Amino acid sequence: PNLQMEDDASSNLNRVNCRAKGGATGFKVAILGAAGGIGQPLGLLMKMNPLVSVLHLYDVVNTPGVTADISHMDTGAVVRGFLGQQQLEDALIGMDLVIIPAGVPRKPGMTRDDLFNINAGIVKTLCEAIAKCCPKAIVNLISNPVNSTVPIAAEVFKRAGTYDPKRLLGVTMLDVVRANTFVAEVLGLDPRDVDVPVVGGHAGVTILPLLSQVKPPCAFTPKEIDYLTDRIQNGGTEVVEAKAGAGSATLSMAYAAVKFADACLRGLRGDSGIIECAFVDSQVTELPFFASKVRLGRCGVEEVLPLGPLNEYEREGLEKAKKELAASIEKGISFVRK
Ligand code: NAD
Ligand code: LMR
Repeated sequence: PNLQMEDDASSNLNRVNCRAKGGATGFKVAILGAAGGIGQPLGLLMKMNPLVSVLHLYDVVNTPGVTADISHMDTGAVVRGFLGQQQLEDALIGMDLVIIPAGVPRKPGMTRDDLFNINAGIVKTLCEAIAKCCPKAIVNLISNPVNSTVPIAAEVFKRAGTYDPKRLLGVTMLDVVRANTFVAEVLGLDPRDVDVPVVGGHAGVTILPLLSQVKPPCAFTPKEIDYLTDRIQNGGTEVVEAKAGAGSATLSMAYAAVKFADACLRGLRGDSGIIECAFVDSQVTELPFFASKVRLGRCGVEEVLPLGPLNEYEREGLEKAKKELAASIEKGISFVRK
């Protein structure tokens, strides 16, 4: 099934094994949907990540070309390509981290929920294979609608008897990346010095930036709060409209996905103090899933952190977010149960 020449792959693999014996760390990472708009730059950036020793690129189209291309980069990770459903299991066996950007993106005028009918089935199939081939892997789920696809994945894993809530994370990092950028613009700061918690979910009003908790501490006018909240909640739509039918965010998403995957890998390695926002199994609210800050560690999500003090504006936003989230979560769960 390996799309690289077999001899190359096995000699590369031997080298990786030797390196591992020599004490160097390295994780095995698979990208499902690797030939897509997100998948390609994500593959490129993961090939540059020194924590990755083996990179599997899986898609239903075009992986031979993408794999050949990325495999020429003179970085440490060994790259292998896998094409079509019959190679899915080989792509997954032995993986430590599986990143899923497989599925269709939005066009102008669509909501993320409009993608449900196609993407729900894709995510279900991929997660069934994960349950079978690498049930202990950390899963980073990017495919939309995240508010429903994470519950779908959880339900598939529960049915297979492999569900570990610590290992399933919906990727909401792009909301944080956007929030940091837009807030930094307003404050006249370098975005690298800004940290904005974004909680709730990943669609419209469920994206809830906590502007009262921005670091460094700062004050916004009511007008700035309205502007920033609206821009962060509609950042995805801003890109969909600018791309005018050619898809949704891919480059900033690949950047955000790598930032998030790198945090997960550093957690797996045993680094301490790694806190990122993600959409996870949660008891922070009455909903079964919710995005908030989580502490990442050797098992994935080591701790789901509380929301902290919210102001009146944020409490109102939270009520709106929870209403929509409840329906999206239920839709995902019943898709698998029915
Ligand atoms: P794309 O169409 O460019 O790429 C999707 C890839 O998935 C394609 O290469 C396609 O062949 C592949 N694919 C389809 N069915 C598959 C299957 N069964 N198995 C494996 N691969 C399959 O789309 P994109 O722009 O890369 O976006 C992908 C998804 O990510 C969309 O659902 C989009 O809405 C979502 N997204 C999420 C976020 C987020 O913040 N979580 C951000 C941007 C995009
Ligand atoms: C985003 O936030 O950019 C993604 O969820 C893609 C989209 O459809 O907006």
